[in-house]
Amino acid sequence: MSRGTQDLVFLLAIALLAICSQNSQAHVTLENGVKSKVYLSPKITQHPGSVSNKFYYDIEFPKGHIAIKSFNAEVVDEEGNPVSLQETYLHHWVAERYYQRKGIKSPKYNSNIGSHQSDFLVAGNAGVCNIESGLSQFFGLGSETRKTSTHVPDPYGIEVGNPLEVPAGYEEKWVLNVHAIDTRGVVDPIGCTECRCNLYNVTKDEYGQPLDPNYLGGLYCCYDETQCKVKNGVESVKRNLYMKYTVEWVDWSDSIIPVKIYIFDVTDTWQNTGIHDCSIEFDVEHSITNDYTNTRRSNASFPISGDVVYGVAHLHSGGIGSALYGEDGRVICSSRAIYGEGNEAGDEAGYIVGMTTCYPNPGSMKIAKGEVLTLESNYSSQKNHIGVMGLFYILVAESSTTLDSPVQIHQESKVPIFFWGVAMFGLAIFAAVVVAYRRQRQSKDGYQFIAT
Ligand SMILES: *[C@@H]1O[C@H](CO)[C@@H](O)[C@H](O)[C@H]1NC(C)=O
Ligand SMILES: *[C@@H]1O[C@H](CO)[C@@H](O)[C@H](O)[C@H]1NC(C)=O
Ligand SMILES: *[C@@H]1O[C@H](CO)[C@@H](O)[C@H](O)[C@H]1NC(C)=O
Repeated sequence: MSRGTQDLVFLLAIALLAICSQNSQAHVTLENGVKSKVYLSPKITQHPGSVSNKFYYDIEFPKGHIAIKSFNAEVVDEEGNPVSLQETYLHHWVAERYYQRKGIKSPKYNSNIGSHQSDFLVAGNAGVCNIESGLSQFFGLGSETRKTSTHVPDPYGIEVGNPLEVPAGYEEKWVLNVHAIDTRGVVDPIGCTECRCNLYNVTKDEYGQPLDPNYLGGLYCCYDETQCKVKNGVESVKRNLYMKYTVEWVDWSDSIIPVKIYIFDVTDTWQNTGIHDCSIEFDVEHSITNDYTNTRRSNASFPISGDVVYGVAHLHSGGIGSALYGEDGRVICSSRAIYGEGNEAGDEAGYIVGMTTCYPNPGSMKIAKGEVLTLESNYSSQKNHIGVMGLFYILVAESSTTLDSPVQIHQESKVPIFFWGVAMFGLAIFAAVVVAYRRQRQSKDGYQFIAT
């Protein structure tokens, strides 16, 4: 090769590299057959007290028919350094799969795609809350994200990108929702993270509808672009952050046993209503006795029979622990909150920096089809807490899915896709539908605060 050709090849290689690595930080790395890649979300611009709660459609994600082995995420600054929860509180992030009609442009951030519903189909998890509840994500955590394992043990994996599952004329894509609250210089950091309406000076929701005066706080008061109260004289310094997410996966093969994702919510009304209406948030009242544990429970009947391979709870500050019990009272998984003790990112005092997880020995923790499970969620009630959550994720390998019957796997997975297909597009309506639904309820019987 001549010198000129070499230079040209080099230039082309650099150009190619630049194109391929647009947002993501590194290329695919391979270890023991497990591929791994680090990605960055679009830029999140914040200033003291500001809230960013955006939906990033069509994010970068591994391509092809694969099994996800882990999905880890954290907030970083422009230099890639982890950002402390004491500066930017990560209320939650969720990643959800959807199918988009080919040739349709991806929606921008928070755009309302209500009138284009058939162009976007939710390809959500396996249950148990109804789709209006907005809990159809595959992955999602909050402040605990840095110290919570998301690893799916061998020989299991979360199957995605199976071309046979994508409806004709559609493509599989992923949407990322990041809800981050900048608490630098605010008058009441915990109040801001609990989204107390008075601190946000919010009396109307995102859509301009008045909130019930009894609604003290929660997601309706800290929507995108709201502002929490800062101390006098705090300078408004802007800064740019990113959500860094790392995905590990293996190429799909018949030796992988697929697992389904189930999310339980302690506000699920199934035991009283027969439907899985999950309102996600609830309040914990200050205890007037000496017992400072607030315990809340909900029941849900499980739709399949299978083996639990992983479990974890999601709680907010004040949370102690949570457990999922079988109908016979056995503990399916118990998950405890880990609090930070210092100032560094990953160890912030007063914040939940991790949740313990469960990895039962393969085949040792079974759930029967139709078994009524009980979710228990404990919060400290030494102080009152507003807008907290009690969720529980489990991964289940269905008993009837054996290695030699791949045909059956596809048939089974067609049912939920058809179901989601006729339903609405989940994440964008996460707020919209829940708001509408609650408003409906509100007008019927006033805001429902289920007494704890
Ligand atoms: C609170 O909001 C009202 C309008 O909704 C506005 O008039 C008032 O100035 C706001 N107060 C603060 C402190 O921002
Ligand atoms: C919740 O609190 C109750 C009462 O203190 C206790 O019996 C139960 O074991 C706790 N559950 C979890 C999961 O921590
Ligand atoms: C929930 O399930 C448990 C165990 O099956 C049962 O003892 C309890 O009564 C149920 N609670 C409600 C409210 O149905």
